[in-house]
Amino acid sequence: MKLFVTGGAGFIGSNFVRYWLKHHPEDHVVNYDLLTYAGNLENLAEIENNPHYTFIKGDIRDPEAVREAMRGANVVVHFAAESHVDRSITDPSGFVTTNVVGTQVLLDAAREHEVQRFHHVSTDEVFGSLELGSEEKFTPHTPYDPRSPYSASKAGSDHLVRAYGETFGLPWTITNCSNNYGPYHFPEKLIPLAITNILEGKSVPVYGDGLNVRDWLYVEDHCRAIEAVLHHGEEEHTYLVGGMSEDISNLDLVKMILELMGADESLITYVKDRPGHDRRYAVDWSTTQADLGWEPSVTLEEGLQQTIDWYREHEDWWRRVKSGSYQDYYTKQYGNE
Ligand code: NAD
Ligand code: DAU
Repeated sequence: MKLFVTGGAGFIGSNFVRYWLKHHPEDHVVNYDLLTYAGNLENLAEIENNPHYTFIKGDIRDPEAVREAMRGANVVVHFAAESHVDRSITDPSGFVTTNVVGTQVLLDAAREHEVQRFHHVSTDEVFGSLELGSEEKFTPHTPYDPRSPYSASKAGSDHLVRAYGETFGLPWTITNCSNNYGPYHFPEKLIPLAITNILEGKSVPVYGDGLNVRDWLYVEDHCRAIEAVLHHGEEEHTYLVGGMSEDISNLDLVKMILELMGADESLITYVKDRPGHDRRYAVDWSTTQADLGWEPSVTLEEGLQQTIDWYREHEDWWRRVKSGSYQDYYTKQYGNE
């Protein structure tokens, strides 16, 4: 099988490419990635010489380049996106062009090449925000209610994928997954930001009252879920993927990280809230479990410990990522905290 993976140099994409070649060494993976600030070929150093792996630098918004690069692929796994909610608030435009237009360009190429499956990697954020303290969870029947430019652009891409299925008969699947964490996570996101700031002896910024809730999943469990969907998923089907059975607030999560790292809670700094900050996410993944036999295998405590160990052992990686233009972003976002 030849997989055409978009965004394979980013956080989840690079974990997926390494996972796939380890578990399916007979397959060929083409990684098509623009290498934006979030794309990093260092994430793939251990497989860069694998003859079953090809990297192509390119933009998913470029129809000619996409058409050429996708030639011969049986399956498309589409990760490429602008993925950070805070950046979508500062400047939404790239989110619309990459996440919406880029997806449409890929869908057209997939039609032309008659790929056997277009798998779209999406987010639980398309469902909006749940009440704090409620028992409610997102299910495959929850209506879309995106509330940030990021989630609105991902919702648009989900709709396009389904529309291409209905209109043109393109075989598709979608996963809507909750918050991932793990190795190679870009340190603009809460967990790697907290870990690396603690390692640097810096404060950990917590937005608003810190009571917002996210549903955390170890990244390899997400890769396993996509694998299960590619192998056993039904065409024209959406699968929900998540990790938690109990709510944990951002504040309690940060306290857990501080404790696991032997650091003091005085490092917590409350900063101004994110505009339109979704209060709570919780994913009911029971139908995915029933249909595919998938379930998360790593507990939050285990996953955080593994992630902390990874960041301790890969200081060169995150120090390089945190230098350069990331510093300008950090100062704009957090001031001089
Ligand atoms: P990321 O920001 O770490 O990586 C995105 C990758 O896409 C980068 O390698 C970047 O270079 C590439 N890219 C961006 N624009 C491109 C373009 N125009 N053309 C080609 N490549 C481009 O993102 P991530 O956190 O790994 O997320 C991957 C996917 O999973 C996204 O679609 C995201 O919406 C979805 N998702 C993420 C999470 C999460 O918690 N991170 C959860 C659910 C779903
Ligand atoms: O739910 C899935 C989504 O999870 C993905 O679709 C997105 O691509 C991914 O970025 C993530 O979005 P979030 O906005 O939930 O992740 P982030 O790590 O940015 O923030 C997690 C929570 O922590 C959120 O409630 C905001 C808060 N936060 C974040 C940062 C960066 C802080 O309190 N302080 C911070 O410095």
